[in-house]
Amino acid sequence: MTRAGDASHTASRALDQAFGAGAAASTATAPGRVTLVGEHVDYVGGHVACMAVDLALTVAVRPSRDGWWRAAGLGQRAERSAPVMAGDIGDRLFAAAVALGSRGPALPPLEIAVAGDLPASAGLASSAAVILAAAVAILRLAGRRLAAEELVAIALTAERDIVGVPCGDLDQRAIVHARPEEVLALDCASGARRSVAWPWPTVALVVAASGECHDVGGREYRRRREAAESACAALGVSTCPEIGDRWRELEPGLLPRGRHIATETLRAAAAVRALEVGDVAALGRLMDESHESLRSDCEVSTDRLDAMVAAARGVPGCHGARLVGAGFGGSIVALVEQGAAKACAAALAAVSGLDGVTWLVRPAAGLEVTAADVVGGEEGGF
Ligand code: GLA
Repeated sequence: MTRAGDASHTASRALDQAFGAGAAASTATAPGRVTLVGEHVDYVGGHVACMAVDLALTVAVRPSRDGWWRAAGLGQRAERSAPVMAGDIGDRLFAAAVALGSRGPALPPLEIAVAGDLPASAGLASSAAVILAAAVAILRLAGRRLAAEELVAIALTAERDIVGVPCGDLDQRAIVHARPEEVLALDCASGARRSVAWPWPTVALVVAASGECHDVGGREYRRRREAAESACAALGVSTCPEIGDRWRELEPGLLPRGRHIATETLRAAAAVRALEVGDVAALGRLMDESHESLRSDCEVSTDRLDAMVAAARGVPGCHGARLVGAGFGGSIVALVEQGAAKACAAALAAVSGLDGVTWLVRPAAGLEVTAADVVGGEEGGF
């Protein structure tokens, strides 16, 4: 069986095991994402260089026989009479259905299971991936099709308005639009995007989970977003690329957050240029600087993430390393010569104390490519 076939089989079996055999399930797989540079700037219209990776979640969905909504996965089960939020595994899965239903015919009660190797709370966008995988599986079940941008909008409605996380849009756009062996350059102000080929056949990314997850409920994430928005408002701009070096004018309480968003968006644009000219040392340096800014100005790193980043950088053949995702725990990503990847993974596992949660990743395909049967084209309307 292919890897995708295997994943579909596992998710369908999870459904049968949790709730008994039923109608044949429709399935879909969504990848995780890694940001190369451009963290905590998407919600203030910044630039981001990111990609999808081939760690993924697969969702299986089938109609419910008795009108109850059911969800299973990550060792949890949820059953309820309506698709409301309850702080459990059902939330994001049901939110996908509710968001789709809000833009077309309401959906009948569903049974949904999720399985896969993309870890939760690891800074690799598992929240967006589970919502998007559920949305695509539901589209397949209903025999409907959505334009890629509409799918992004539905995933954002699900995460922000239904689950209630005030995220930016980088995760959803990376998971939908990413292309294999390419890095996605996003302009989160205009919505523009372009792809840049990964220029180095022998350079890869090592991702390692720290095992830490500090930001329970997303409180700190929300505070970073509010501070970034306040910094923009204080300077009379609506997006962070407009700040330039005017972060110097901010009052001391806002200055570090303002400097992070102003400099990080510039670093992301520079990272895209480094990819275009194939300057691996420059990209590595920008990743290092990004981590430093996230640590000291945005204050989203942890001692363990800092130690992991330092350990990766100490391995010959590592060009740069940084925390990835929202921070407060999660994972780090290191840019390494392929020949140094094993040594880098070992150095990282020695710091985190975790074995088996270090991955060698390359840019992978997003849903526009892997779910072209139901995603893409101009026609919309679920
Ligand atoms: C999370 C959010 C994104 C983005 C990153 C930080 O992944 O979902 O929108 O803000 O954090 O860059």
